[in-house]
Amino acid sequence: MRLFIYLFIVVLYSSGNISAQKYKYYRYDTDLLPKEFHKGRREALRKMLPDKSVAVFFSAPVRNRSGDDDYTFHQEPDFYYLTGFVEENSMLIIFKEEQNIGGIKTNEILFIEDKDPGKEVWTGRRLGKDGVTPVLGIKTGMLNTDFDDLKLDFKKFDKILHLKFPQGAVHEHGSKADLYSLVDQFKKKYDGDKEDPFELFEDMAKLRMIKQKEELTLMRKAIDMTCDAEKEVMKSIVPGMYEYQVQSILEFEFKWNGSEYVGFPSICGGGENSCILHYESNRKKLNDKDMMVVDIGAEYHGYSADVTRSMPVNGKFSEEQKAIYNLVFKAQAEGIKLCKPGASFFEPNKAAKKIIAEGLKELGIIKSEDDVSKYFMHGTSHHLGLDVHDVQTSYELVSGNVITVEPGIYIPEGSDCDPKWWNIGVRIEDDVLITDNGCEVLSAKAPRTIEVIEALMKENSIFKIQH
Ligand code: GLY
Ligand code: MN
Ligand code: MN
Repeated sequence: MRLFIYLFIVVLYSSGNISAQKYKYYRYDTDLLPKEFHKGRREALRKMLPDKSVAVFFSAPVRNRSGDDDYTFHQEPDFYYLTGFVEENSMLIIFKEEQNIGGIKTNEILFIEDKDPGKEVWTGRRLGKDGVTPVLGIKTGMLNTDFDDLKLDFKKFDKILHLKFPQGAVHEHGSKADLYSLVDQFKKKYDGDKEDPFELFEDMAKLRMIKQKEELTLMRKAIDMTCDAEKEVMKSIVPGMYEYQVQSILEFEFKWNGSEYVGFPSICGGGENSCILHYESNRKKLNDKDMMVVDIGAEYHGYSADVTRSMPVNGKFSEEQKAIYNLVFKAQAEGIKLCKPGASFFEPNKAAKKIIAEGLKELGIIKSEDDVSKYFMHGTSHHLGLDVHDVQTSYELVSGNVITVEPGIYIPEGSDCDPKWWNIGVRIEDDVLITDNGCEVLSAKAPRTIEVIEALMKENSIFKIQH
């Protein structure tokens, strides 16, 4: 008996090793979300699904950039959350109850493209069907080409849930293995577009709005490197530099620290461009008197940061820049104070708007507080996570939410106020975790006060090049 147990353990151990060996070049990162995380998320969703239901998810489509060149593929966030799988042309089916499909007992199936050594020489390794269970921990893996003939009658389910179908999936002629075919076959099997995609969207949003500890580890990493990038930018900026050079410094920091992508196009707006909320062309040469808005976010293993710092290009705030900056700072501090469980999502916005309205009136920039939205034209907050503007279905803050608090003032040239205020744009944005007792500012590492910013801007950096 002892010998039997020993042999059993050896076989179990070596089979794990064989599979680790087999997939050793499939992915290199050692801090990816573990398969147990994704399994837990699928279980949490399954609990929310109604009896006799099935939920179907599709990967993101590949998008063509030009000619035979595609945009870098980025997985659909819900699909990634439930699988950790980052390949294209795939579909996940989650059943509420275990099914017997032609003798296979399962409660979940991931459909993927077959391995193809010829193609893999060009485009990199694919997991292959046999890797679905050992690598991803999903009970059943099948090939896309198996879906059409699958002995599964969708009509037996009381509810068939899906999200909005992926837009723009391109069909390879005659293929049953691409995303277009999967969607097409699925629509035929369940007979039309009768379900409302909002129901599953809501379930997924409920899950994604409360970050698990594994997600927070990755978010902290993304936010940390984003703060480091802001600091490096502060040390490097000098008049004569181009906005795209600022972008290159911060994106170097991201890449150097292992970020796969930017969570959104980096906003590096100087002078007149500091007043364009989502400016992203970044082509201007920076002038001595320019104010600069740097709104950036590294994405790390799917999770995005979103941090904004504003600074004077020459390292010293003018009196006008100081007045506007301090007003935004005060509004943000008040907003952050209101971030706690049980509070309304809208409270920080309301408080920040009030402070900015009063302040702008006092400075003579607006005549009536009702005009505040002329210069502060957005809300202070959104959820943050797998999407930079992350999903949301409820408006009471709870522990585990991560939201931004980002008031701003933008006074473009030609505004109806003293021209001394023109072309000053300031936004201060932090990422805030709601905790059991209040909140934690995850991006506190990036300096926020005028004194600390000015001091840091005097420091040196390998990127500080006099122009
Ligand atoms: N970076 C976009 C935003 O702050 O919402
Ligand atoms: Mn931002
Ligand atoms: Mn934001």
